[in-house]
Amino acid sequence: MPMPKITGTDVACSVFQAEQFEKTLGRPVIAENCHATKFINGYENWFEKLTGIDGNPLEFQELMKTKNNILSKKVKNGNMFDTNSLRFMYNHLQNRFLNSTKRPTYAYIIIETIYNSKCNYCDMWGTKKGDQPNTEEWKGIIDDIRSVGVISLTFSGGEPFLNRDLFELAGYAKSKGLYTMVVTNMSLFNDDWIEKIAQNFDFFGISIDSTKPEIYQETRGVNWLEHTKQSVHKLMDGLASIKGSTAVCAMVTVSNRNAYEMHDILQMVFDDLNMDCISFNLLDPKGSTTAKDFIPTEDQIRYYRQTILENKKIYPILNSTRYLEQSGNYDYKCNPWKCVHINHEGTLIAPCTFMNEKRFNLRETRLLDVWNQKSTQEIYKHYDACRSCNLGCIAETAWSTYDLDFVIKENFMGMILPMWKRIGERNHSKLKQENGLIRNHFYERKSHSKNESHWK
Ligand SMILES: C[S@@+](CC[C@H](N)C(=O)[O-])C[C@H]1O[C@@H](n2cnc3c(N)ncnc32)[C@H](O)[C@@H]1O
Ligand code: SF4
Repeated sequence: MPMPKITGTDVACSVFQAEQFEKTLGRPVIAENCHATKFINGYENWFEKLTGIDGNPLEFQELMKTKNNILSKKVKNGNMFDTNSLRFMYNHLQNRFLNSTKRPTYAYIIIETIYNSKCNYCDMWGTKKGDQPNTEEWKGIIDDIRSVGVISLTFSGGEPFLNRDLFELAGYAKSKGLYTMVVTNMSLFNDDWIEKIAQNFDFFGISIDSTKPEIYQETRGVNWLEHTKQSVHKLMDGLASIKGSTAVCAMVTVSNRNAYEMHDILQMVFDDLNMDCISFNLLDPKGSTTAKDFIPTEDQIRYYRQTILENKKIYPILNSTRYLEQSGNYDYKCNPWKCVHINHEGTLIAPCTFMNEKRFNLRETRLLDVWNQKSTQEIYKHYDACRSCNLGCIAETAWSTYDLDFVIKENFMGMILPMWKRIGERNHSKLKQENGLIRNHFYERKSHSKNESHWK
């Protein structure tokens, strides 16, 4: 009997369908005619990076047609989706096409609410420490986070490094196959962190508010600029020397204090500090009682948008073009089941921290059980079309849950690949020293000082 064939419109689609049919038919199915080649030009190693499978991407379609290829072996061994990219595709397709329990892709743990600064646009430092899970309880929660389908786990706060278990918990999450992320103000950085960061975190976000000490002071209530810069220098040199693959990202909250500083911030982050990537978020006025005094004006938002869009061709900027073009007025459907929100007490907040409709204490009830209950799924479903948040991160993750074109063109080609390339350059000493500045010669530099800009 001839082997059944599945024709797909893209890589994961036909592979995914073939896998589903294999399960139904109980015999092998070939996936063919994937349009893999359309993503290849200029990204010779993309296939290997995406799948973790050795091989020339140009041979992909041929590979898929052979009976004993690496991919079909992976299907047979049940470990086809052992890389984050493939698991991401699996979640995406299952959530879109199968009417079953939703698979969240992201998880967000507020690991500590306590803070060591009093930021003007954030009230979190006022929250009490609370009754927190111990290390073993957190590990149990992380096990379940992985089991419900999560791929990327972010630790935030408060200041997450005030939690002394953070490295251990991140290492544990990574050992379970989660992509580990953190956002920190870098105030507690120590030289002995470098190896621990490389081992335990895939993504290391550092808040950078300004290039000016007085703005730092005004925004955070403390001027950490010089300390942060020195720490970042040490971290970047250290990671390059051990060829660490952690992506170090500047996290910039755009306010009326720093909106016109965008060129200087880019220059500091990439040319001086030699960081791997940058991500911008427009200030959310709901962040604190004083946040409204920091809202950027329309003109400032226009300036920020144009500057960052222009520079997206030059630097690894982890904001999509769609996000930048829609700055502050996002058109999206939330699908909040895409992200599991857990607070510092180990409580799942459904459907999200903002709506806070139902709370589940994950030290008493397992996340796995709670998540699979119909009533829980219904809470999330009720908010499918919600768009109450004007936060870029909510909109971007929403687009990635239902728009495969966005995932490939914006997430993968527009952000992940440029970031990987920059990390590769950093680790292979290809960042040139010019006039005292380290420059990345992968990017053709264009005018980027405010004076040279054509901004009017
Ligand atoms: C809440 S902090 C916690 C992590 C860490 N303590 C820090 O300062 O990076 C995480 C990120 O949220 C940003 N943030 C705080 N308040 C915000 C607001 N009202 N709107 C947008 N971003 C905000 C911070 O600038 C920071 O980059
Ligand atoms: S858009 Fe709605 S459901 Fe989504 S995170 Fe914001 S408040 Fe929650």
